[in-house]
Parts: sequence; C-alpha cells; structure tokens
Amino acid sequence: MITPHGGTLINRLVEGVERDEWFAKAASFPSLTISEVTLSDLVCIATGVFSPLTGFMNEADYLSVRDNMRLANGTVWSIPITLPVPEGQAEEISNAGYVGLRGADQELYAILQVESVYQVDHEVEAQKVFGTTEDKHPGVARIYQHSNIYAGGQIWLLNRPATGEFSQYHHDPIQTRERFAQKGWKRVVGFQTRNPVHRAHEYIQKCALEIVDGLFLNPLVGATKSDDIPADVRMRSYEVILKDYYPEDRVFLSVFPAAMRYAGPREAIFHAMCRKNYGCTHFIVGRDHAGVGDYYGTYDAQKIFTHFTSEELGITPLFFENTFYCKRCDGMASLKTCPHDKEHHITLSGTKVRQMLSNGEAPPAQFSRPELVKVLIEGLREKEPVTP
Ligand code: ADX
Repeated sequence: MITPHGGTLINRLVEGVERDEWFAKAASFPSLTISEVTLSDLVCIATGVFSPLTGFMNEADYLSVRDNMRLANGTVWSIPITLPVPEGQAEEISNAGYVGLRGADQELYAILQVESVYQVDHEVEAQKVFGTTEDKHPGVARIYQHSNIYAGGQIWLLNRPATGEFSQYHHDPIQTRERFAQKGWKRVVGFQTRNPVHRAHEYIQKCALEIVDGLFLNPLVGATKSDDIPADVRMRSYEVILKDYYPEDRVFLSVFPAAMRYAGPREAIFHAMCRKNYGCTHFIVGRDHAGVGDYYGTYDAQKIFTHFTSEELGITPLFFENTFYCKRCDGMASLKTCPHDKEHHITLSGTKVRQMLSNGEAPPAQFSRPELVKVLIEGLREKEPVTP
C-alpha cells in the first residue's frame, strides 16, 4: 500500500474517556465559531485526508506553503489550510492555550491548541495561491470575506458533522486503504470531480482503468460555488451511471468531504496528495483541473507537477488532453487521437450544460448519457424554489 503523504496517516479523532475529558475541560476554553469550510477542513485533518497536517497551519508553515508550495519542513503542500479569527477575538485567543471550535449550530466540534496567532496579507495570499487578486474569483472572494488574522495549532476532533442522505459513501482514508487491499487493487487511480460524470470524464476514467486495477471515484462534496450542481443531485447521478456503464468490481465510489478552492494548478497538487492519503497510486489531471473562468491555462494544472520530483509526490499523475466526442470518429477522442476538424467535435461549456439542465433541456447523448441527464434534470427541478 502506498505510504501516506509525509509518512504517517494522521488520526486526530478522539473517543471515549479522552473525549469526555476534553468536553469537561472545554467549558473553561474560549469558543470560536467556525465556517462550513473550516468544519470540512477539520474533518479532513482529523481523518488523515490532509496528512501530514495535524492542525491549522502556524505562521511558518503558512508562509512556506504560500511562497514555496512546501511546509516549513520541505514536504510538498500547495494550499494554505488556515483558521481565520475575528479581529475582536484575536487577543483572547492568542492568550488562551486551547480554544473550543464550534459550528454555526453551536455544537462543539473540536479543540485547537493555540500555537500561533498571526496576521496575513490577503492580497499576497490571493496572488500566490490563486494567481489573481480579483474578488470575482470564488476562491479569492472566500478569503477576502474573513478576517486576516489566522490561528495555527494542532486539533482534536470530538464530533463529526452529520453526513446525511449519502452517508454510505463517506469513508476515511483508513477505510479506503482497507477496501483497496480487500479488493486486491495494487494500482488505484483517483478521480476528482465537482461535476456529474459526463462522457469526457467517463472516457478518461476508462482509459485509466485500462492500465490500473481500480478506479476511486472521489467526487468533492464540500462547499462549492452556488452555480455548481449540488452534491446530493450529483450523488444520484453517479449511482445511475456506475450501475449502467461501469464494471461493479472495478470502481469504488466514495466522497471527498473537502471544500472546492478553484485554485487550478495548486489545487491539482493538493488533490493529488489527498488521494494518495486515501491509498491511490495514480491521479487523473485533465484539462483545466479545478479551474474557474479563464484564470488558468488549459494545461497549467499539469505543468505544475514538473516543480516536484516523483519521489516527493509519491503518487503518479495521469495527464489527459481535452477530450470530446467526434462525429467523424464516432467516438470519444482528443487532439492526440482525432484527425478531424473542430466542426465535427461536440463540446459544451460547463455553464452552458448547467443552463440546459436547469431549463429541463437535455445536452446531446454524445456529451452526457441520457440516464444521467434524466436524474440531473429531476434533481435540479426539485431544488428550484417552489413559487406559491
Ligand atoms: S474539477 O474542478 O473537479 O477539476 P471537473 O469535475 O470538470 O472539475 O473535472 C474533473 C476532472 O476531469 C479534472 O481532472 C479535469 O481536468 C478533467 N476533465 C474535465 N473535463 C474534461 C475534458 N473534456 N477533457 C479532459 N479532461 C477533462
């Protein structure tokens, strides 16, 4: 089994007597109310998805990740994982040894041992991590929304947020690793998506499946921007497409609880490290991975892998060209395999597809499987606000 990133699979979940003790002690700790994104980060840290992180970044790790895509000890890490603190609470939290982290529901989810409280420059962070300071970028907008004072330190997770309707698809890295071993999969390819599985996704997954033992379909279900298709609608669509078009014993569907950052190239590295922690040996990076709008070049998320050696990455990226259905080839193809002109290719932008689905209109069968389209249209219709 592939070694987790940084060498050890982190486990910061506390149970039993230790948990009771933390609850008793927490009564005297200051409380910090955290966002949905921070709560999903907490779960990823505690269950080892973000190994080797044991908590939110202290100043040294934050600066090193922001400027050099490495933790202070040199380990590859490309996205700051940080805990913003409202200005009015900064002093109280700097002076506290421990802080209780509470959700919007006031539930105590975790304890933070405060190591450092530091001020950052949001514009520098935005430029370095997202390549832009524009607040039109959803990842940049998110960091601008909160305080520029961050608290770093290790965490203990006492409670897990409810996983809801699709709880059977929530597995921690320790469980996915066990499942891969049980299945006898030695070479496992991870697939990140925040979308339904359209024909292009299916094609690149199946190309990869030709050369590895199993596909780990790992859709992101953390926070996304409001015009992405909601995770619950997507989950139903994955079930349908897997049932009809994939061999059951070669695919494992399990969700990725992290929030989407839309950081393109840097997020591709981060996504790959998380999938390595789940036990994947390979990771698919296609066109404009984790991109949004025109912020990144089509293949920037592939080029960034050249900054690191294969030893320090540990997981092997599988790069794919932009793929499409070609009417002349009568099948899926890319410019690497298709000699025909653009006019024969069926391509649709994500925005266009979402618009069509919301209007109850089906994209062509060469773009999306009809069974999938049906589930998406129905799911989105259920989401529409009911007009009295
Ligand atoms: S992402 O934000 O989660 O990366 P998306 O769900 O669209 O977005 O993509 C999932 C993966 O499929 C990414 O690796 C992306 O690069 C790849 N991909 C999506 N569409 C295509 C396509 N038409 N051709 C090649 N790769 C693609």
